[in-house]
Amino acid sequence: MKITILQSGQESFQVKSINSEMKSIDSITELRKQLNHWRQAGLRIALVPTMGNLHAGHLSLIEKARKLAEKVVVSIFVNPTQFVEGEDYESYPRTPEEDRKKLEALDVDILFQPRVHEIYPVDLSHQTKVIVPHLDNIFCGESRPGHFAGVATVVTKLLNIVQPDFAIFGEKDYQQLQVIRQLVRDLCMTVEVVSMPTLREASGLAMSSRNAYLTDQDREKAATLYRVLNEMAEVIRGGGDNYQELEKAGLKILTDEGFKPDYLAVVDAETLGPPGEGDLAILVAAWIGRARLIDNVIIRR
Ligand code: PAF
Repeated sequence: MKITILQSGQESFQVKSINSEMKSIDSITELRKQLNHWRQAGLRIALVPTMGNLHAGHLSLIEKARKLAEKVVVSIFVNPTQFVEGEDYESYPRTPEEDRKKLEALDVDILFQPRVHEIYPVDLSHQTKVIVPHLDNIFCGESRPGHFAGVATVVTKLLNIVQPDFAIFGEKDYQQLQVIRQLVRDLCMTVEVVSMPTLREASGLAMSSRNAYLTDQDREKAATLYRVLNEMAEVIRGGGDNYQELEKAGLKILTDEGFKPDYLAVVDAETLGPPGEGDLAILVAAWIGRARLIDNVIIRR
């Protein structure tokens, strides 16, 4: 028994035991063998899919998984098919040693860390793709064509490989979460998708692996993103419903602050279509320096 403080951004986690028993597995066959034993023993399994470079946001997903199930599998796989041409696949931050230590400290049972060939054994141009129509070509899907097909395909593969009772995702990638919810529904999967709130730095900046691309100056400015979302949400909660004007005002603040916004939109929280009577989401994506940041605020009604 050992107390460790894991420091990640502004968040810290107190962990009471180190699980030196964590298995690191890179083969699907070996993973399935282990999972079958647990399933036969009636143990529930939770999966936390990640691309590594773990921060406090990921760690909160793992803590949730720990509460939901007896066995926790974390996958680390930097999925090439969700990076659009010209994006940062090669330079995406990879920190395997640090990640492994964090996972051991969080009592994770299996780290599944497959190589690209294990997940995509055939030529990518021959690979079956999972497409979630409509949701996949608006907002981030419009700016990053093919991105959500890559996400939907790899998440389907991971869910089929692990067949977990629960799969945990962060709400920061809100459009991704809706894509995953829809594919699970449409493909009649039995997994329960659980989402966890976005963790933030003290400034309000949402935690993200790509924050590593921010200079100190960019990082200060980046906090404006969440401030704008909150100001818009406050107006809406106060009865404001001229969404177009609100979007225009928000975009102006961002542009004046030096952002290059991709989109800022008030939408229905479930369909991501035009706002109706139901819950709303304010979604934003904007470049600051080398980083494309996304964030959102949900307004429950
Ligand atoms: O959110 C991520 O880290 C990735 O998009 C995911 C869900 C692990 C799929 O590669």
